Amino acid sequence: MANVPHGKDGILKDLHVRDAGIRESLLEESNTLPDIALTERHLCDLELIMNGGFSPLEGFMGQADYESVVETLRLADGTLFSMPITLDISSERVAALGLRAGSRVTLRDFRDESPLAILTVSDIYSFDKSNEATKVFGADDSAHPAVAFLHKEVKDRYIGGTVQAINPPNHYDYINLRYTPAELRAYFKKLAWRQVVAFQTRNPMHRAHRELTVRAARNNQANVLIHPVVGLTKPGDVDSFTRVRVYEAIIRTYPNGMAALALLPLAMRMGGPREAVWHAIIRKNFGATHFIVGRDHAGPGKNSQGVDFYGPYDAQELVIKYKEELNITMVPFQMMTYLPGTDEYQPIDEVPKGTPTADISGTELRKRLKNGAPIPNWFSYDEVVKVLRESYPPRNKQGFTIMLTGLYNSGKDAIGRALQTVFNQQGGRSVSLLLGETVRSELSSELGFSHEDRHKNILRIAYVAAELSRAGAAVIAAPIAPFEASRKAAEQYVVQNGGAGGGTFFLVHVATPLEYCEKMDRKGVYAKARRGEIKGFTGIDDPYETPAKADLTVDTSKQSIQEIVHRVVLMLESTGLL
Ligand code: ADX
Repeated sequence: MANVPHGKDGILKDLHVRDAGIRESLLEESNTLPDIALTERHLCDLELIMNGGFSPLEGFMGQADYESVVETLRLADGTLFSMPITLDISSERVAALGLRAGSRVTLRDFRDESPLAILTVSDIYSFDKSNEATKVFGADDSAHPAVAFLHKEVKDRYIGGTVQAINPPNHYDYINLRYTPAELRAYFKKLAWRQVVAFQTRNPMHRAHRELTVRAARNNQANVLIHPVVGLTKPGDVDSFTRVRVYEAIIRTYPNGMAALALLPLAMRMGGPREAVWHAIIRKNFGATHFIVGRDHAGPGKNSQGVDFYGPYDAQELVIKYKEELNITMVPFQMMTYLPGTDEYQPIDEVPKGTPTADISGTELRKRLKNGAPIPNWFSYDEVVKVLRESYPPRNKQGFTIMLTGLYNSGKDAIGRALQTVFNQQGGRSVSLLLGETVRSELSSELGFSHEDRHKNILRIAYVAAELSRAGAAVIAAPIAPFEASRKAAEQYVVQNGGAGGGTFFLVHVATPLEYCEKMDRKGVYAKARRGEIKGFTGIDDPYETPAKADLTVDTSKQSIQEIVHRVVLMLESTGLL
């Protein structure tokens, strides 16, 4: 790989080809080559390789660089680089494409198949996942998101080689806030910003972060670059759209001309200390002179023993170790804490002993968003809170799904219709009623009543219910859903996909006994089933598995619809939904 002394001369390896003729011929060649569809993480890496964000890298790491980085945090030529940047591929795919050293292969965006670059293969090699996990992330423990990713997602071969850029990946969001390193450097030059302190973040920013960055600017006579990650962050983080709206709101709280906002399409690894060194290299490439590392920088949380993977200031220590080579100055911070007495924020190590302090943890903040509790001005800004409340509405504005399961003619439909009316009267949400028969005719008309088809039918209901719940609707679904496994799968799907902070799903078992369902069946459907004119009828010649655990069990042979509806309302009220 490149032996350009990284950073010392400020050389930036922007690989984008400016010559239209060369680009055109690369594009033509790309259509004749075997291709690799890049995953989201590859795409993030490639974008920063191509635009110089990962300078001096000129491609994905070959074996010598990879092993050297894993063992020593240095490329094979000795240049500091703390994170392995690799392109994984399965050995089957290598064989199928006939790849070997010297092959040229087109790297395509998996979303639209557009050609992004041509890779000239230097080597294809196997590697030891456990060793990589232990050396790079500190432990072969899948509680670490990058280690889990390594074991679950990463294929068995790495393919190294330099890339020739054709096009950067397409983006459709916040184009005006995306800058390449060259563009950002030019921007700083235009504004005559000589000292720039970059702030890395993957979280919403509040007053503590604003104070921290302003303090860093003041102490270093610098301007501030808010440089949040919008590639991949830690699973469960606030989505990047919401965060960018937050950053746009907070940037307005800085004195005019002090701060700028640019988005970084980085795939974070949550690698703590190693990640901090990598972040510093990246920010140097983007033209910053200073880089903030606070408490628990890029921390992955706790390991499978419940202990933090890294110490809160390990990242700062590793950056200090390499400070002579980094060519960007770290601005270290201890935990910023609020002092109610003087209405200001200070790093905890500067707070005189005995001074009262205050804080709102991430968990506490999520709780307050959930139940609509106030978030004080000392903690955040009204504009920021407004953005967060829109994305994380309180319980009484969130969608939810109620699944009524039970035998044919158990009263599910009547309960469903009554709930629909009651929710409509309550207002504030759109209401969707998915009756078993409607779903059968509108969504699942080609499905029959085999075990497998019944399962598919329930999964379709779950899919629709999750989509609607996520959009804020009250969804009432009333299929027979005779199988425990299907109901569980539906619940899991809605919980995972039915809302920003997780969807809400209730199972109501309408446990009206078969004899009563049959007795009240004025359409004579049970009679037909008894005569064998309908086959595979639940309760007659097909099983109904009683739910092991329902949120509510009701019975229309004993309770009126009004009573049942009231019990559902009480259940929803107790969880804050009504
Ligand atoms: S990170 O994964 O990107 O590090 P986060 O966005 O929470 O997570 O933090 C961004 C940077 O701000 C890190 O350097 C972190 O240490 C620092 N930071 C965040 N909150 C505080 C705080 N209250 N006090 C000091 N530093 C902080």
